[in-house]
Amino acid sequence: MRKLFVAGNWKMFTTLSSARQLAQGIVDGFGENEKVLVGVFPPFPYLLAVAEIVRGKTIVLGGQNLYPAAEGAFTGEVSPTMLLDCGCQYVILGHSERRHKIGESDAFINQKVHTALNAGLKVIFCIGEKLEERDAQKTNQVLERQLTTGLAGLTQEQVASVVIAYEPVWAIGTGKNATPEEAEQAHTFIRGQIGQMFGSANAESVVIQYGGSVNPNNAESLLAQPNVDGVLVGGASLKVDQFSAIIEAGMRVASAS
Ligand code: 13P
Repeated sequence: MRKLFVAGNWKMFTTLSSARQLAQGIVDGFGENEKVLVGVFPPFPYLLAVAEIVRGKTIVLGGQNLYPAAEGAFTGEVSPTMLLDCGCQYVILGHSERRHKIGESDAFINQKVHTALNAGLKVIFCIGEKLEERDAQKTNQVLERQLTTGLAGLTQEQVASVVIAYEPVWAIGTGKNATPEEAEQAHTFIRGQIGQMFGSANAESVVIQYGGSVNPNNAESLLAQPNVDGVLVGGASLKVDQFSAIIEAGMRVASAS
């Protein structure tokens, strides 16, 4: 049985004070909850402050990126060891904003995935097609490429520490989410690919989140899909009331199944 995973990607938002307030609000509401896994991904400068607030609670903490080296002369970059040191258990890799705005390649993301897992971090590995790729019926082709290159060389055991986030680029920050049916279709394809690459046990257990304009109104119908095992939330994760409503939607779905 896969546990639903509701994660907030704060991107390059918040201040020290609003990050603390947001984390405290989530801890007050869900710090003891065991039904749904809740995660927060603050900007690097606020990781330690948020770590203090979530310590000992059921909320997990993660970084939004890392550099694929243990340490070294890489000005401006952050290593997996530093993330672990700050209390992170997870890291988001392959996010479309890094792929398409910063220009990260599949091969570079693959290096990051290996580095993160070897260091003992769990990975939220993001994939998703652009609008023109969907319109050209290339969604599955893009997902297959991103999975085979991004997860190349991992062992079956390592894949158990990877969460996949299906985030269609056209749905991110646009207010236009994938329908539950579109998400279910993509997630079923992704699960099938994981089965081909890493065996049926991994396909069965891998957690696949949906991301892209998730809000309190659409979260429950997305989470109710059999192959949607969680959500990766951007904008709506920055408001305690909205993020809480999404977690509550997950709790209702978990109770019903
Ligand atoms: P929005 O929820 O703001 O569309 O962002 C989704 C996302 O990119 C999460 O990683």
